[in-house]
Amino acid sequence: MSYAEKYQFSIDNREAFWAEEAQQISWFEAPKQTLSIDEKGFYRWFKGGKMNTAYLALDYHVENGRGDQTALIYDSPATKSIKKYSYSELTKEVAKLAGGLKSLGVQKGDTVVIYMPMVPEAAIAMLACARLGAVHSVVFGGFAPHELAVRIDDAKPKVMISASCGIEFEKVIPYKPLLDEAIQASEHKPAHCVILQRPQAQASMVDIRDVDYAQLVAQSDEAPCEIVDATDPLYILYTSGTTGKPKGIVRDNGGHAVAMNFSMRAIYDVQPGDVYWAASDVGWVVGHSYIVYAPLIYGCTTIMFEGKPIKTPDAGTFWRVIEEHKVKCFFTAPTAFRAIKKEDPHAELKAKYDISSLKAIYLAGERCDPPTLEWLQQITQLPILDHWWQTETGWGIVGNMVGIEAFPVKAGSATKPVCGFELKILNEAGEELGPNQDGYVCIKLPMPPGCLPTLWNDDDRFRTSYLNTFEGYYLTGDGGFIDQDGYVFIMGRIDDVINVAGHRLSTGAMEEIIASHPAVAECAVVGIADELRGQRPVGFAVLKDGQNIDENTLEQQSIALIREQIGAVAFYRNTILVKRLPKTRSGKILRKIIRQMADGEKFGIPSTIDDPAILNEIAQRLQERCIGVAYTEKQV
Ligand code: COA
Ligand code: AMP
Repeated sequence: MSYAEKYQFSIDNREAFWAEEAQQISWFEAPKQTLSIDEKGFYRWFKGGKMNTAYLALDYHVENGRGDQTALIYDSPATKSIKKYSYSELTKEVAKLAGGLKSLGVQKGDTVVIYMPMVPEAAIAMLACARLGAVHSVVFGGFAPHELAVRIDDAKPKVMISASCGIEFEKVIPYKPLLDEAIQASEHKPAHCVILQRPQAQASMVDIRDVDYAQLVAQSDEAPCEIVDATDPLYILYTSGTTGKPKGIVRDNGGHAVAMNFSMRAIYDVQPGDVYWAASDVGWVVGHSYIVYAPLIYGCTTIMFEGKPIKTPDAGTFWRVIEEHKVKCFFTAPTAFRAIKKEDPHAELKAKYDISSLKAIYLAGERCDPPTLEWLQQITQLPILDHWWQTETGWGIVGNMVGIEAFPVKAGSATKPVCGFELKILNEAGEELGPNQDGYVCIKLPMPPGCLPTLWNDDDRFRTSYLNTFEGYYLTGDGGFIDQDGYVFIMGRIDDVINVAGHRLSTGAMEEIIASHPAVAECAVVGIADELRGQRPVGFAVLKDGQNIDENTLEQQSIALIREQIGAVAFYRNTILVKRLPKTRSGKILRKIIRQMADGEKFGIPSTIDDPAILNEIAQRLQERCIGVAYTEKQV
């Protein structure tokens, strides 16, 4: 079947399409309804199906002859070590930790927050929760205690799982003080914290509350897989929205497993037994879907890489891993390759390695800039496949479905909609736009399996953030267009979300923090273009009357505030003082114009602008500070 036929079938016969895909995974009891609507009015997949996601990812393979196959390779330039787990070994480790968690009182439906670096125990912890039917919520290790505390208060974990430290390049970052500070700050207190002691840093333990990971596993029996409903939550993953309060994206068990399994074949074109590597972090959705769940559900070997694309030890590290473990399919963010290109522009380090096992490189997480795409094509001579997705969907919305039919790549486009995603470009009035017309990228409901059924404890926010703008559609938050050949071009967010080095962050959250500075009357944070990280945030602040703090002091203090409250990953470096912010007459800050000025893009001055002269001051200040591509060749 061609892509066009298969795609059309998936839209015209959604239930038949997904009922067939559902047969590819092993259910304890088959679903009673393929697609249904719950009491809140939300679409649900595979109601009545009984299953367990950890069973699909582990025990199923052991029972079906994959017990001795490597399930997970931990490759850690950070600790100069490599460790391999077969499916049998990983199943046992997961079952033992699940037994340990059970002894601490964790039951089906309980929540567990995981705050871990890229060690195998992070994946083991996720799978152990899935085994028990407990709902995990992994928090990215680069987030500061305040962000962790916000997530603890929302998820209300019975238990937390963490490690004594993470390693960033050669820097050891003790996690335990961050964890303790977060629990101190949160209203909800977990009953226990399970701590993995790593040799690089010893964590001090709080009596009774804290439990040693290794001891817990050693003294616990293996726990069996609990039977869960397809519609039960597997995990919550918080992601940045437009305010300081992150959104708890809920993922169900059944739809997720079916979508993950389908994507491995149809999008990534791999076979069970192949080595699949997503160089991301378990704290992000790519890590959930394509380091842990999809490769294991599909019976591949997955790699957990504790390192960076560069300096661990050099910019040849990705090629080394690909050669050493015979990776067939590789997935990372464009930022990682921009970093490599900067250090090894002529791919001399790559030339040292045999990467003939590799069949394709997939990119996602942020817009793939054409120069990076072209450089990668040239140095690898491989298909470089950009695909577009979000934490909310959990898998690709637009991509080259090479497992069905491969299309020629067009730079700047992630290719065509993935089966099951009925994509439309709408204007402000909700009318469908034609080819090459820029608008809101929306997905007609129902979305396919795997996508969020709602937000954790916040059905109203789910409706207002995604469903209410255009009735019958999910609002992705991205703008873009579809060309005359059906290729989708995602041009960037239309809200306050930015992507810094593949990390999704909220400028709204940063504004709230800077506005909390006693000298600041109001501020705007915009994501401007950054050569390496894709985007980086820059703040524009107006002082309160009578305040005379100098720009440098305010800048240093706001940098410190953002590092303390969000984390170093925000990569916040500049606060620019201005007398006023450009606004519409109704008071809406014109952030887009500020960004366009900094990025040297053409922009129109809206007729609703209050005072266009303010733009001159913004331009002058950007120039004085040498900030933005329009004002300097040199990035910070
Ligand atoms: N834990 C703690 N701190 C972290 C962290 C983590 N997991 N990740 C990043 N940080 C810190 C860094 O140490 C740095 O701190 P500093 O300001 O004190 O030096 C800060 O956050 C900024 O980090 P980053 O923007 O990542 O810059 P970098 O120079 O450390 O690394 C890259 C640059 C490009 C190598 C790195 O960003 C990268 O590998 N990006 C790819 C990201 C990715 O794969 N995303 C997944 C999406 S699919
Ligand atoms: P996250 O939820 O962290 O995966 O971030 C999702 C957002 O990242 C999307 O809404 C897009 O703005 C952006 N994004 C992810 N992948 C791509 C891509 N391939 N092309 C363009 N933007 C992307």
